Amino acid sequence: KRVAILISGRGSNMAALIDAAEAPDYPAEIVGVFSNKLDAPGLDFARDHGIPTAAVSHKDFASREAFDAVIDETLAGWNVDYVCLAGFMRIFSAGFAQKWVGRMLNIHPSLLPLHKGLKPQQQALDAGDVESGCTVHWVIPDLDDGPTILQARVPVELGDTADTLAERILVEEHKTYPRALAMVVRGEIRFPG
Ligand code: GRF
Repeated sequence: KRVAILISGRGSNMAALIDAAEAPDYPAEIVGVFSNKLDAPGLDFARDHGIPTAAVSHKDFASREAFDAVIDETLAGWNVDYVCLAGFMRIFSAGFAQKWVGRMLNIHPSLLPLHKGLKPQQQALDAGDVESGCTVHWVIPDLDDGPTILQARVPVELGDTADTLAERILVEEHKTYPRALAMVVRGEIRFPG
């Protein structure tokens, strides 16, 4: 199966997916990385691994729909079966999101449905949670919503800051996302319904 990854920044989850997909027995191929930030650090990693990249700023488009059309064309050009969002910080138009339902995954650093949106690690600390983690889920038009594919848990430790908690969660993200994608492309997990 052909998979594209959408990023906006660091791209450590993208890198984990690329690394995993380089194993001969991995069931998916990463065929392109798209960024809405022209200078996203993750783009260099992708290029170094011989993966086609496209960087297009959303700021050059008058509407969400117009920008999403460019993403859609790019994905079509790569002949993509599945899309992984990995730190992609743009909200989609409903039409684009709907079109990709069942073929688009996201990772979020909380135990969804807890702590959607920005700074989920700080949200977990503020809530006094004793555990946190990450969730890989199907993307639906609502932000950080959609059926769960896989979760991993970590403890919240005494003295944690948002940064130390984020770091502990990130270690799990890098294992969980490649695992979840493999299960999806193997057909072991399907979008419900
Ligand atoms: C990760 O914590 C991911 O779960 C969230 O944004 C962060 C992106 O980090 N959606 P990276 O770009 O993958 O390093």
